[in-house]
Amino acid sequence: MRIEQNYSLEKHNTFHLPVRTRWFMEYDSEEELGRILRDEYFQECLSLHIGSGSNLLFINDYNGIIVHSRIKGISVERETDTSVWLRIGAAEVWDDVVAYAVSNGWGGIENLSLIPGEAGAAAIQNIGAYGVEIKDVVETVEAYNQLTFERRVFTNADCEYGYRYSYFKNEHNDPYIVTYLTIRLSKKPVLSLDYGNLRDELGACAEPTVADVRKAVSAIRRRKLPDPDVLGNAGSFFMNPVIPVERLERLRERYPDIPAYPAAEGKVKVPAGWLIERCGFKGQKHGSVGVYEKQALVLVNLGGAQGYEIALLAESIRTAVRERFDIELMPEVKYVG
Ligand code: EPU
Repeated sequence: MRIEQNYSLEKHNTFHLPVRTRWFMEYDSEEELGRILRDEYFQECLSLHIGSGSNLLFINDYNGIIVHSRIKGISVERETDTSVWLRIGAAEVWDDVVAYAVSNGWGGIENLSLIPGEAGAAAIQNIGAYGVEIKDVVETVEAYNQLTFERRVFTNADCEYGYRYSYFKNEHNDPYIVTYLTIRLSKKPVLSLDYGNLRDELGACAEPTVADVRKAVSAIRRRKLPDPDVLGNAGSFFMNPVIPVERLERLRERYPDIPAYPAAEGKVKVPAGWLIERCGFKGQKHGSVGVYEKQALVLVNLGGAQGYEIALLAESIRTAVRERFDIELMPEVKYVG
């Protein structure tokens, strides 16, 4: 176990905000996590469990305990002729899991290549890209109840997955800490190539493999999204809004080129990036905060930004989109403090 006091979180949030936490604790096993959860001082303090901080916006220093898992490891739990089940420690780097699966020729998560963050957070957030979401492969999620200390194995259905949503994100539910997840991959991969320009990227590749798809997805992401190690950011800042089809039809009278993708019955998903670009924000710089010039859904720290500056720019964007389109953008990024 590692415990630090008055600790900088600069390396623990991909906006690279120089905030500090009163305490920082890292545990290496479920047993150590149990000791932390049962500690009386811990129970009295404000606390937050984080992954690699690729979806967090710290507004202030954190006057409590930031907890981080170091439970790693990928193991084959079960195998048949067609499937393989991998049990993954929550602190495993998600892209390492994808690389491992792809190197074995196992399919299911190749479209989720190069997404920053750790496996546990990926399962909580229901990460998604290029037509695939992690919920498509999750079998079970193992988690500890922070209040009762009980371990529970969630089935895929128990996780109540939706777009960038799971049971673990609902603040009205009991708080759980995810320790492991098990995913089911296919030994006879059926590729998902219908999103955007993925097929074009694969070009002349007549019979693409999972490795080809990983390469293509990585190339698209590298072109469109800034590398957080170079330019602090948290990927998509907002979720893509889901609106009723009738609303879209009314909007199309004024904006015939508004893009939309099918969502739940009678609803469509509108790309927030398009709405933000239409409001003129793409590529804009406001002091040390900017809207990325190649993808308007990404807010970037141009150097030395504070969390509140990013939040202010996000608020101006929300207001502009509301006033122009009557659509409410909801942050995908979690605000802390
Ligand atoms: N668009 C614009 N201008 C922009 C950006 C996008 O007009 O500046 C429009 C274009 O019409 C484009 C469409 O939006 O065709 C979709 O853009 P893109 O394919 O880049 O995807 P997105 O909807 O902006 C979502 C996810 C990404 C994921 C991509 C690819 C959300 C909130 N974001 O973005 O996830 O990588 O699809 O599947 O759902 C993340 O969550 O951090 C993330 C990066």
